[in-house]
Amino acid sequence: MSVANATSDTGYDAWLRYDRLPERQAGVLTGWCRRIVMPEREGLFHTVRRELTAALASLLGIEPVVTDVLDADADAADTTGAGRALVVATAERAAGLGLLAGEEAGALHADGFVIRTVRRGDVRAVLLAGGTARGLLYGAFHFLRLASIGSLNDRALEQLDIADRPRNPLRMINHWDNMDGSIERGYAGKSIFFRDGKFIADKTRVRDYARLLASIGINALTINNVNVHETETKLITDELLPDVAATADIFREYGIRLMLSINFAAPIQAGGLPTADPLDPAVRAWWRERAAAIFRRIPDFGGFLVKADSEFRPGPFTYGRDHADGANMLAEALEPFGGIVIWRCFVYNCLQDWRDRTTDRAKAAYDHFVPLDGRFKDNVLLQIKNGPMDFQVREPVSPLFGGLTRTNQMLELQITQEYTGQQRHLCYLVPQWKEVLDFDTYACGEGTTVARIASGSAFGRETGGIAGVSNIGDDPNWTGHLLAQANLYGFGRLAWNPELSAEDITDEWVRLTFGGDPETVRTIAEMLLDSWRIYENYTAPLGVGWMVNPGHHYGPNVDGYEYSKWGTYHFADCRGIGVDRTVKTGTGFTAQYHKPHSEIYESLEQCPDELLLFFHHVPYTHRLHSGKTVIQHIYDTHFEGAEQARGLVERWSGLKGRIDTGRFLQVLRRLEEQAEHAKEWRDVINTYFWRKSGIPDARGRKIY
Ligand code: GCU
Repeated sequence: MSVANATSDTGYDAWLRYDRLPERQAGVLTGWCRRIVMPEREGLFHTVRRELTAALASLLGIEPVVTDVLDADADAADTTGAGRALVVATAERAAGLGLLAGEEAGALHADGFVIRTVRRGDVRAVLLAGGTARGLLYGAFHFLRLASIGSLNDRALEQLDIADRPRNPLRMINHWDNMDGSIERGYAGKSIFFRDGKFIADKTRVRDYARLLASIGINALTINNVNVHETETKLITDELLPDVAATADIFREYGIRLMLSINFAAPIQAGGLPTADPLDPAVRAWWRERAAAIFRRIPDFGGFLVKADSEFRPGPFTYGRDHADGANMLAEALEPFGGIVIWRCFVYNCLQDWRDRTTDRAKAAYDHFVPLDGRFKDNVLLQIKNGPMDFQVREPVSPLFGGLTRTNQMLELQITQEYTGQQRHLCYLVPQWKEVLDFDTYACGEGTTVARIASGSAFGRETGGIAGVSNIGDDPNWTGHLLAQANLYGFGRLAWNPELSAEDITDEWVRLTFGGDPETVRTIAEMLLDSWRIYENYTAPLGVGWMVNPGHHYGPNVDGYEYSKWGTYHFADCRGIGVDRTVKTGTGFTAQYHKPHSEIYESLEQCPDELLLFFHHVPYTHRLHSGKTVIQHIYDTHFEGAEQARGLVERWSGLKGRIDTGRFLQVLRRLEEQAEHAKEWRDVINTYFWRKSGIPDARGRKIY
């Protein structure tokens, strides 16, 4: 833990600042927390103890005393907290102490916890009980979160009664880090794991990162890019496994299991075999031997994440095999050790011929994987991006959710802002993710939401979860844009419980990060919650995405995207705009949805405005539900969006003096850059469509 406030101006402490509480609040809490009763001490318990004592010391300005007996006399000398304590124990131990009913203790989820005010004889205590040490860790961070945002006042402490557990078995971060230190789609500096082809020896940042992740409930992560190049292919070899194990040791301290992205052609590239055919006995034996070697060094190793037969990565197709053959081969190797395979569904033909208007990138994942439903082993999960394309600012939900019913699934979100401003723009994604999670696929009638499918509960699957592509790097504040920390925080909170509201998560994050000043909390929360829509306004209208420069994907460039000449992207010409994905006249993509979505998206009348151009090709003069024509909407939203981006600068500027200068200025600079860049977006997009359509700007505003 860093010394309180020493690094606060950089934002390094993120949401774990533990600034000193106001005196009265601190006094009340001190009464309960001066004495921590914690009978268990090894392994993860040690982490819990370290986190609690350091955080309470920082919040309250005291040194809590940790004992292992619950005894009023032990505290006799302390008049402020006489007879009170914070009891921290597994549910089983708490039941043994008579503080929790045996039945409740037995039913507590391994990662779940209870925080409750209890009494035994003369002792009154706040009980923090975890299903296991991991549950205790999450409970401790939750308790500290409540303390930090000032929720633990006198009254609240007298009657605490909280029980919580994660809804998703896997809550995972995927790093796209390369061993040379670069990060694919990274916008916050270099890798915290690797530099110049090696692991970074100093693990201070890795440990601080593990704390941040554990505090929001993350329990698994991959450290290397899904595009596994030559150096990273060696991560599973004896040469690099000791380094992988050293990193796994740190994450283990925080209850996080390490996994690796693997190269499907590793048997050839690292094993010297002539083939990587998943049905070849020598290849299977090679993977089994590698799995055994990995688990010897890292007994709690999580497993493999695989990108195969996608964007030129090797895969089973080379050998005439399919994704199930590939995934099951790896799953079989990992199975004896409890490892899993996460197989990505981001599979499409990059070089599709755009003149063939029935082949549609949006359809690809469903077409590849639905026919394989039910063929994957139990320790395989299919990881599905939220949309059918690729993390655009607006896409419909991937119809694979609802298409697959007999396969474990995971939702993949992109925390790093590849197409949403690359952390130079403010774009808070929690509201977008909420829409995805709440989307009802109707796969088993009403209520079959993406959240329930991902968690496994919709189809009674044992496992499932949510993965997010990391947005951190070695920048002092982790995420480049300080406010992008909210995306990481929000991701973790939603992975823990998709039912939390965007508003509650936002409020929590702002209070933890900037304190409780009402004006500050209101302003920043509103800025965050407005920002996705603002970004959409000045960039990609009505479900058209991809208007970015090739390679780095920072816009604006309407025809810039590297695969535009091969694919179905916006199809704007002088007569109209949008991609016809209907069954009747287009690519037929709408048929991949269950009713009523298939009908709603198919129908020009019913299709929601914000997705109109994703599903339909219409004249520029087509009238939206809003009453505006498409071209007018494009013009207006781009002017509005650019003005709103300027407004963000003004809103933030109003907080001057309420936030420390360091953090105030770094955010201000980013917002100013965003406001300038928003003007560029506005002018490039409006000019393009003005020229294409031949329809002048009806509002008479100047187009550059
Ligand atoms: C996007 C991204 C790539 C990434 C790919 C993936 O296409 O631009 O950098 O490799 O997604 O998710 O595999």
